[in-house]
Amino acid sequence: MKVEIENVTFQVPSFQLGPLGFSVEEGTITAIIGKNGSGKSTTLKLIHGDLKPNTGTVRIDRTKVSSLSSLKLAEKTSFVWQEIFSPMSFSVRDVMNVSGYKRGTDENRMEGALDKVGLAPFIDRDFSVLSGGERRLVTLAAAIYQDSEIMIMDEPTNFLDIDNQILIYNLMKGLREEGKTIIMTMHDLDAVHNLADSVLILRDGKKIAWGDTDSTLTLENLNKAFNVSFHTYNTVNGSSFVGSYNG
Ligand SMILES: Nc1ncnc2c1ncn2[C@@H]1O[C@H](COP(=O)(O)OP(=O)(O)OP(=O)(O)O)[C@@H](O)[C@H]1O
Ligand SMILES: [Mg+2]
Repeated sequence: MKVEIENVTFQVPSFQLGPLGFSVEEGTITAIIGKNGSGKSTTLKLIHGDLKPNTGTVRIDRTKVSSLSSLKLAEKTSFVWQEIFSPMSFSVRDVMNVSGYKRGTDENRMEGALDKVGLAPFIDRDFSVLSGGERRLVTLAAAIYQDSEIMIMDEPTNFLDIDNQILIYNLMKGLREEGKTIIMTMHDLDAVHNLADSVLILRDGKKIAWGDTDSTLTLENLNKAFNVSFHTYNTVNGSSFVGSYNG
């Protein structure tokens, strides 16, 4: 197992997450889904060691995340944040360099990573004045440039137009083929259905379901997770989820 979450709980006065337990296999895509505030980002931050669990352990390659140095952690995992930190007067190159500091600068690889998201010509531009979608694409390129074994992505397609959403879905499939392990959150259930090997469904910090996508992403589990009655309908691309609001 690449990542093991064992009996993890995390508590702040307004919110309790867990206990959570699940294991992620190498070279797979795992999606965490649930309502706003259900604990998805908190779970990702616990996996990345940004938050410490109150109980339980997170292991990467059988080593406790809490015992990994920040350099080792950067080698093992990258993190695409849900919110995009926009430091003043940073160029795109600077943002890439921050992600790639572990390996040292490699101009060719940096341009290659930006090219994957169509932004190679942006390398010397001011990051802080880019559009939301452009900044999102740069943060994804930075994660690719970091070239870690595990890629944690918190809503990697937010801010993106439909063309770029599809570009990122294809990129994620390619990264999985290269052997990367991706753990992500995503609100688009059809995209999750198409991309993910495993799904964790959360509601109010509790695990509603966990397992392989086909047996977990069921109408019954989705109805438990959201205030919506789900059904599926057939499209040219296969079946699609649609929900009607219950209030
Ligand atoms: N450090 C903290 N202090 C207080 N409350 C917190 C803290 N961290 C998280 N929370 C609360 O925990 C809950 C879960 O937050 P989290 O960011 O994990 O949700 P999410 O599932 O990622 O939601 P979204 O879909 O909106 O991104 C929220 O209600 C949030 O306000
Ligand atoms: Mg979140």
